[in-house]
Amino acid sequence: MKINENTSLEGQRVVLVPYNAEHVPRYHEWMKSPELQQLTASEPLTLEQEYDMQKSWREDDDKCTFIILDKQRWTDTSVEEEQCMVGDVNIFLTDPTDPSLAELEIMIAEPSYRGKGIGKEVTRMMMCYGVTKLGVKKFQAKIGLDNQVSIAMFKKLDFQEVSVCKVFKEVTLEMTVDESVRTRLLEDMADMKERDYRQTCSDRREPVS
Ligand SMILES: CC(C)(COP(=O)(O)OP(=O)(O)OC[C@H]1O[C@@H](n2cnc3c(N)ncnc32)[C@H](O)[C@@H]1OP(=O)(O)O)[C@@H](O)C(=O)NCCC(=O)NCCS
Repeated sequence: MKINENTSLEGQRVVLVPYNAEHVPRYHEWMKSPELQQLTASEPLTLEQEYDMQKSWREDDDKCTFIILDKQRWTDTSVEEEQCMVGDVNIFLTDPTDPSLAELEIMIAEPSYRGKGIGKEVTRMMMCYGVTKLGVKKFQAKIGLDNQVSIAMFKKLDFQEVSVCKVFKEVTLEMTVDESVRTRLLEDMADMKERDYRQTCSDRREPVS
């Protein structure tokens, strides 16, 4: 999606930046992990296919992707952005007849960053972005039945289980964004800062002395 190509979102522990070609090698390394392939129901790709995927995530109107960075590491301008990568988060507009319906996916790829509240923070940030910038009114998460951590996280965020597909061994959780959900989300995310990604990159290259 082009809408976020110059957007960075700053939370408490993370910064979300658009998925660029420079992020692909690390992303490709992550996705060699059989554990991550299983948890995210992904097929292994060649490096070339991964670049094509990044391009389609960037350009297709129905996909919005951010890379999750460790904010503390990223604040240190001597650390390359690729070395700050922790995972990714996506919104997919799955129904061409209903652009207000969004599927959410999140991956904290680096195991040492899991279980520290980052998944919840990033999911809320992405929901806030989806509601305010993309006009999302309903979020869905489709999760493998074995992925108890992810199921627990979405339930903790007040998603409700709506169906179980035994064939695909996955559960669908949903959250409808009514006025009270929207208000709470915006309140919770009041500290989130949106910046111009090009500006933040140039600030990193030429830090203010
Ligand atoms: C699933 C995932 C996104 C959760 O993110 P996270 O940063 O590890 O989770 P958080 O620390 O924010 O915890 C969120 C909630 O998940 C649950 N949770 C986290 N770790 C858990 C664990 N080890 N066991 C059980 N529940 C757990 C808890 O309910 C927690 O809320 P609480 O801390 O208020 O009790 C992350 O673990 C991940 O990306 N795993 C690998 C890829 C994956 O499974 N992606 C999802 C595909 S659908």
